Amino acid sequence: MKITFLGGGNMATALIGGMLERGFAAADLQVVELGEAARGALAQRFGVRAVESFDDAALACDVLVLAVKPQQMKAALAPIAGRLCGQLVISIAAGLRLADLGRWLGAPGAPHARLVRCMPNTPALIGAGVTGLYADPSVDAAGRETAGRILGAVGSTVWADDEAQMDAVTAISGSGPAYVFHFIEALESAGRSLGFDEAGARRLAIDTVLGAGRLAAGSEDAPAVLRQKVTSKGGTTEAALASLAAAGWHDELVAAVQAAEARGRELGAELGKD
Ligand SMILES: NC(=O)c1ccc[n+]([C@@H]2O[C@H](COP(=O)([O-])OP(=O)(O)OC[C@H]3O[C@@H](n4cnc5c(N)ncnc54)[C@H](OP(=O)(O)O)[C@@H]3O)[C@@H](O)[C@H]2O)c1
Repeated sequence: MKITFLGGGNMATALIGGMLERGFAAADLQVVELGEAARGALAQRFGVRAVESFDDAALACDVLVLAVKPQQMKAALAPIAGRLCGQLVISIAAGLRLADLGRWLGAPGAPHARLVRCMPNTPALIGAGVTGLYADPSVDAAGRETAGRILGAVGSTVWADDEAQMDAVTAISGSGPAYVFHFIEALESAGRSLGFDEAGARRLAIDTVLGAGRLAAGSEDAPAVLRQKVTSKGGTTEAALASLAAAGWHDELVAAVQAAEARGRELGAELGKD
């Protein structure tokens, strides 16, 4: 299966590295990338073909992965508009909707339909991401499987049933690492206030999040059950959780994610308005 990436930046580099580790062949991968240094780095590190603009070989692919910034997408697709022959197109661009991508990719009056839209998150850069995916109904099971295998090269995958859910994916796991970093910052501040130096407080905070995440991922118990298991009656954890509950922490976080989802919907409309 021949796969061409449009854009050879951070995320394409992570995907290509993960795909090669999982058995995709370098000879089957190509990258269309404007930057000369980035092209050289991709060719040298992975042995993939990297070109400045679409040529016949780059267009003669089975799958096209769109990996330029959302604001760059319309201009980047202009040279190939109406020139695809039914390829599966997988977009990883945050916020861009299938209808807008299809219009930019297709010929006038004939939008490209065979599209999958994905939202990875930044831990994908170290192979520990989670990606939400949504496929146009015209994409068959084999196309969905291909998209799942490509994005699965940088972490786990979750399919959405409805394109509107992609704004929720953006709000939960796309922006999610920032919420976790913020939590780590707060735990680190608490460590400093209780007498630890920066390095010690940071180590305690980061490794707690890392260990709890791994424990939750590997456990058959729901997170609520794991929480109850470390909360003894009258103990220290109970005191902390009571303080968080009094501050409305849980509901505040839910409201924050809902605010992110609403902003995602607004941005999607802005990005695709022309
Ligand atoms: N990084 C993440 O963690 C993350 C997470 C979720 C989703 N995403 C999505 O992934 C996509 C890529 O993000 P990224 O972080 O990898 O961005 P990036 O590092 O900026 O990579 C994009 C690359 O595409 C190149 N490019 C721009 N226009 C082009 C064109 N017309 N033809 C060929 N190449 C072109 C850029 O070159 P120049 O630098 O010269 O412009 C750049 O090297 C974005 O749409 C983003 O929304 C990223």
